[in-house]
Amino acid sequence: MGEEWHRVADAAEVQEDAPLSVTVDGNSIGIYRLGDDLHAMEDICPHAYALLSEGFIDGDTVECPLHEAQFHIPSGRCLREPGGRDLKRYPVKQEGGAVYVQV
Ligand code: FES
Repeated sequence: MGEEWHRVADAAEVQEDAPLSVTVDGNSIGIYRLGDDLHAMEDICPHAYALLSEGFIDGDTVECPLHEAQFHIPSGRCLREPGGRDLKRYPVKQEGGAVYVQV
């Protein structure tokens, strides 16, 4: 079974200060907008399962709403513990006013 593109949102739903949480094939994925670019990464914090898309955006980072772990949005890299590890990223694209994620 190959990876497929899934339509997950209207482009206008993903705002710079308001990432979107979507579920594709049982995977919780956070969709972020940084300037003109979209990013998609694992939405469940590896530490204790908070939704990172409900956290705080600061520049190109997101801080977990529960215990302040911090992740770099363009790379998924864990920048501050207790994140524990880097986040899985997903290919994402905008086409015809819609957002698609490859899962
Ligand atoms: S659940 Fe994210 S830092 Fe604890």
